[in-house]
Amino acid sequence: MKTALITGANKGIGFETARQLLQHGYHVYLGSRDAQRGQQAADHLRAAGYPHVTPIQLDVADSASIAAARAAVGQQTPVLDVLVNNAGISGGYPQPALDTPLSTFREVFNTNVFGPIEVTHAFRDLLRQSPAPRIVNVSSGLGSLTLQNDPSWRFYSVKGGIYPPSKTALNAYTVALAYELRDTPFKVNLVCPGYVDTDFTDHLGDSSVTGAATRVTNVALLGPDGPTGQFFGQEAGSDLNPW
Ligand SMILES: NC(=O)c1ccc[n+]([C@@H]2O[C@H](COP(=O)([O-])OP(=O)(O)OC[C@H]3O[C@@H](n4cnc5c(N)ncnc54)[C@H](OP(=O)(O)O)[C@@H]3O)[C@@H](O)[C@H]2O)c1
Repeated sequence: MKTALITGANKGIGFETARQLLQHGYHVYLGSRDAQRGQQAADHLRAAGYPHVTPIQLDVADSASIAAARAAVGQQTPVLDVLVNNAGISGGYPQPALDTPLSTFREVFNTNVFGPIEVTHAFRDLLRQSPAPRIVNVSSGLGSLTLQNDPSWRFYSVKGGIYPPSKTALNAYTVALAYELRDTPFKVNLVCPGYVDTDFTDHLGDSSVTGAATRVTNVALLGPDGPTGQFFGQEAGSDLNPW
């Protein structure tokens, strides 16, 4: 049975991605920074008929938690086929580039940038055991410098000083990682889930978690001829067309 680890999977897009990968026959390690919330999410999925789900306490901003999660997963499987770095925070809005306290920058970058990097490092040995490892980093169109500089883009005026730059950094790291792994079976890609109806957007988003998770899942399931180092998003016109 193939295996997947999803960070921030106790709710929102991560939870729905867990459900979809379970539907595709994966054993899912469901990351949650709060152990109880992770257990509840896993119980919910089991009750819905998906027995192959294991909650894993995983705070991506906490090195000790990442190391413990790596040890816990490693006790159960020698191979990880899919890593979805989904956990993310906005840091709250408004977030003026000049006047927001540096502590907020650090908090957001710890979760959105250093978190995925450290989780990827921690699980790289298990991923290397897979014949077709896939890493999906959940990003945002707000991190695209091209879109941020396009006055016709519908989110052009969303100019937070912290969250968008954190996703820009994640994008740049992902492109570098994909390039480094270009001659290996790894596929390393980015997905913007769209503007999604979750707690993250105070449920103002105009698209569903189902569609968002389908985008993430499709990129996690890319075949050997699939792309790597690309950014996929709703506004591409097709889920698998990079921006
Ligand atoms: N919703 C959108 O419109 C939208 C658009 C573009 C990109 N995204 C990205 O999509 C991803 C998921 O967002 P969502 O909409 O599903 O948000 P959400 O419903 O707020 O869920 C976020 C998840 O991340 C977890 N999380 C936060 N900090 C964490 C940490 N330090 N360690 C581990 N988990 C942590 C949360 O855990 P708790 O429950 O413990 O807080 C929760 O499980 C994020 O990366 C976000 O930036 C979302």
